[in-house]
Amino acid sequence: MKDVFKAVTITDHVYWVGAIDWNIRDFHGYTTRRGSTYNAYLVMADKVTLVDTVKAPFMDEMWSRIASIVDPSKISYIISNHSEMDHSGSLPGVLEKIHPEKVFASSMGAKTLRDLMPVQGEIVVVKDGETVRLGDAHITFFETRMLHWPDSMFSYLHEDRLLFSQDAFGMHLATSERFDDEIDPSILEFEGATYYANILLPHSPLVLKLLDRVGTLGYRFDCIAPDHGPVWRTDINGVLDRYARWAQQKPTKKALVVYDTMWHSTEHMAQAITEGLLSEGISVRHLSLAVNHRSDVAYEILNAGALITGAPTLNNNLFPSVADVLTYLKGLRPVNLIGAAFGSYGWSGESVSQVESILREMGVEIVCEAVKVRHMPDGEFLTRCYALGVDVAKRLNERVT
Ligand code: FEO
Repeated sequence: MKDVFKAVTITDHVYWVGAIDWNIRDFHGYTTRRGSTYNAYLVMADKVTLVDTVKAPFMDEMWSRIASIVDPSKISYIISNHSEMDHSGSLPGVLEKIHPEKVFASSMGAKTLRDLMPVQGEIVVVKDGETVRLGDAHITFFETRMLHWPDSMFSYLHEDRLLFSQDAFGMHLATSERFDDEIDPSILEFEGATYYANILLPHSPLVLKLLDRVGTLGYRFDCIAPDHGPVWRTDINGVLDRYARWAQQKPTKKALVVYDTMWHSTEHMAQAITEGLLSEGISVRHLSLAVNHRSDVAYEILNAGALITGAPTLNNNLFPSVADVLTYLKGLRPVNLIGAAFGSYGWSGESVSQVESILREMGVEIVCEAVKVRHMPDGEFLTRCYALGVDVAKRLNERVT
């Protein structure tokens, strides 16, 4: 297998030498139904430079792609833009095989690489705004802390006007195509938004600052080359605009009704709430956790205005699937949401107050009293659920014009 993989030309100096992970379906808790890629890039300058590596099990694939262009022992420099293991996992293996003159990383990158893996030799720390010459080409580094880890940085190859952006502007999407203009735009929009919601959402204020900075650099971008998914060479303004939109998290007249159920009581309540929302013209995503993954809920929350959450009580506690999704969403720190809680119980009924408490911790503004029913909701309780949907809808219609 080792000689079957080939590099793909990206620009005059740059080749894609990454790996395609067709079969990954879980990326630290985020469901990746279309797989992913780990993009590494080879810059064929006087100083042959490898930008990032791939997840450790894919090292032979990367090596084969590099060898299709150049003897890997000719690599002089390695740049580690991001030390998370999907991009650094092969670095120790690479350094065992070859002995580049220098490995470059940010100060946090150098520390993190040392913490995570045995890296032979010195790591040269580069500063924000520093430029390194590769002989006939030069690269400038920009720290992008917390996008997606504290170590993260961008690298800009001036000669090809190409930005290596590591996780930013990427997506989990395994394809045979390497460029944005070769892929259905609706897939790029969906997978890009899903990636943003599940990976970058908590860091949205920093994304907005970064976009401002990118705009003031005075650089032209002919290509943006992320570490996952396609290289942007056509819709560059589009991806920058989408990032600005997602980072602003402007609420729309869209509500999520997120719930799970044991014996259909909470489900019936969710249906009544959904009907109440619909009666006021709200767009609803009715998301049973029996059939929707937490990362699907994260995608939907990106432009939502309301989050209404329901749970049965199980053994005096919150139903596990609802606890799971609320824990996940809380970490993603969505903003600008109103909401309410509901649920059913048989013995004690702790779940509803627990849901409401977590929603408040998330910063969700609770806009109406929770509805809690013992056993199966009758007509009166379903009417109260319907009214809850109407009340949330009216508040949402007031907030979003
Ligand atoms: Fe693709 Fe933050 O790693």
